[in-house]
Amino acid sequence: MADGNLTLKWEEGCLVLIDQRKLPLTESYVRCCDEKSVARAIRDMVVRGAPAIGVCAAYGLALAAKNYQGRSKDEFLSVIRKAASLLSQARPTAVNLFWALDRMEVLVDQNIQAPVAKIQALLEAEAKKMEAEDVHINRQIGKNGAEALAACPKEKLQLLTHCNAGALATAGYGTALGVVRSLHAQHRVKKVFVDETRPYLQGARLTAWELYKEGIPAWVITDNMAAHFMSLGKIDAVVVGADRIAKNGDTANKIGTLGLSVLARNWEIPFFVAAPLSTLDGALCHGKDIPIEQRDPREVREVMGKTIIPDSIQVKNPSFDVTGHADITGIITEAGVAYPPYEKTIDKLKGS
Ligand code: MRU
Repeated sequence: MADGNLTLKWEEGCLVLIDQRKLPLTESYVRCCDEKSVARAIRDMVVRGAPAIGVCAAYGLALAAKNYQGRSKDEFLSVIRKAASLLSQARPTAVNLFWALDRMEVLVDQNIQAPVAKIQALLEAEAKKMEAEDVHINRQIGKNGAEALAACPKEKLQLLTHCNAGALATAGYGTALGVVRSLHAQHRVKKVFVDETRPYLQGARLTAWELYKEGIPAWVITDNMAAHFMSLGKIDAVVVGADRIAKNGDTANKIGTLGLSVLARNWEIPFFVAAPLSTLDGALCHGKDIPIEQRDPREVREVMGKTIIPDSIQVKNPSFDVTGHADITGIITEAGVAYPPYEKTIDKLKGS
């Protein structure tokens, strides 16, 4: 599981995804053979997590290209543009989706004179390359994160993580869980506190499953228990993933991350964000400009398929919140760890 090929797999010309909506109760797979089914899978959370969404979008575009049977370059380019537009609407917050589609479209532009068959082959190869790169990047993030956490005085650490930023959220190994995996390989993890992560339960369903499979000691807690365990001195550091990071370091991640950062500040606990450089949005200066996905209220209204809130009571379901840069100790990337002031250090890492 650590090295991926579970989350997503290119198999006989189609993208095969483990259905994360059904985990951990059922291990079933969804086969996507065109861009529509990939867009649907992203929208409906068959696959989730910023880097995984990016790689899947790239495969979606490669599928749209591959399925084109004609010979007209104009028609082919229009198919690509329409597919990119469809895929870009699947979810709004994770910038990796747009980053991956841009990268694919730039490749098309660079080879605009080439025959259709050549561009089709290039797009498929690029999606495969992105998948392999993602695993490599995550291993590097893991290594850099383990080094950054060497500053913690304890030999074995008790870490807290939120949502799922593991192998399931990427092409393999994970970002925040990549750091955990890397520390575990060095025998430096005492325990991982896993936030349940209401309402979609990515922590309880996915992170706990991943850690269990690798024999990494974990305790699942409900989201409202974090302050309690911090107050008892049980948490040495918080490590979370990210969906989009603005130029000043403000970070959008799963709803609840903001609260954790405020609690961590209160108890002076290091708070790290682990993410690839592709999660940095160079177009946004501040986190307040990051689009926040509002999801179906039924995710909150229902528990195990049963409605628990009267219909007349409104329910809100923002899927992400933005952690202010001032509460982030460091941003762990494949190129190194950025520390404040992020405007300067992020640019430096991007240039390295
Ligand atoms: O709604 P999700 O499950 O896609 O949200 C995922 C997260 O918030 C992750 O922490 C983030 O995408 C980083 S994944 C390496």
